[in-house]
Amino acid sequence: MVNLVETSINIIQKFQSESGAYVASPNFPTYNYCWFRDGAFTAYAMDLYGQTESSRRFHLWASKVILDRKEMILIAIEKARKGLPITIQEQLHTRYTLEGEDGTKEEWPNFQLDGLGTWLWSLQQHKAYSNLEIPDECLKAANLVADYLSVLWHNPCYDCWEEFPDDIHTHTLAAIYGGLSALSIMDGKDRSGTIKQILEFVDENLIYDGYFIKKTHSFTVDASLLGLAVPYGLVAVDDQRFDATLRRIEKSLRNGGGLHRYPTDTYYGGGEWILLTAWLGWVYASRGDLEKAGEMLSWIEKQADTNGNLPEQIPATLNDPNYYVPWLRQWGQIASPLLWSHANYLILKKQIQN
Ligand code: BGC
Repeated sequence: MVNLVETSINIIQKFQSESGAYVASPNFPTYNYCWFRDGAFTAYAMDLYGQTESSRRFHLWASKVILDRKEMILIAIEKARKGLPITIQEQLHTRYTLEGEDGTKEEWPNFQLDGLGTWLWSLQQHKAYSNLEIPDECLKAANLVADYLSVLWHNPCYDCWEEFPDDIHTHTLAAIYGGLSALSIMDGKDRSGTIKQILEFVDENLIYDGYFIKKTHSFTVDASLLGLAVPYGLVAVDDQRFDATLRRIEKSLRNGGGLHRYPTDTYYGGGEWILLTAWLGWVYASRGDLEKAGEMLSWIEKQADTNGNLPEQIPATLNDPNYYVPWLRQWGQIASPLLWSHANYLILKKQIQN
């Protein structure tokens, strides 16, 4: 049997480009890009295992991507401050080529704010775990991102699954909240105004019958709500409303071993996601429930192929099996290895060991 920790670290190292970018998945053409969201979790996982150099290279890559677009970002900030709409050309993309260019080969739902918040959080974790000073260019880029998020957070945008652009997503707000809070810990600047507004917005609009909901105009849950408590800390892990959310996530999104994204997800039929199952285990571990966390870990370990590759999702207990073959025909086999799956596995394993 392969040692999945070692294999996961090796896979991440192997598929980190010379530029520092982590490819989302090397064998799945649509994912031959680097996403801020996936990359930020991957860098955090590497920091947890002492792979500081790898994580640092990613953060330097991300900072360059941002600083190369400084003028565009400043225009977007100024327009948003004046209440003017910003055009597609003035928005940061969500995924970039490994060389840091905008991914323009196919149309993509680019206006997604969560990954930028996640990056700020991950950068602060890098400082905490590596005990190294954060390079100046990273801090400059992070500040630009924070200003961009501070003026745009209340705009509808695509969610972390790259869908529903007309709504405001609870997970997205949590990632921005977590990112701004993390940056303030790092540079001491006061961002409490925006942070408070986000909390108020969530309280007023994104709680229904005592639990957090996926987005505005909805009363369902989404697995990404796990992030509200861990790692973004918008709500305490033992808060009553989070308890109720967790129970609902278990009830409506876990009918096999692994966790689905949301009840009506039909991407590859809507299977059980490795990274989400690991995230659920991470939440349980943070609540001190190591038995449940261990249950998630063993399920994940059984899903690795003989070479230790973890896919994005397992086509089991599909939400709607009718959609499985059409996706296979459109984009090929489910992405594997998916670096974010390996990253969240590593994070969960570390939580259980500590
Ligand atoms: C997911 C995104 C992810 C991307 C790359 C998409 O299918 O919805 O959350 O960032 O794949 O892994």
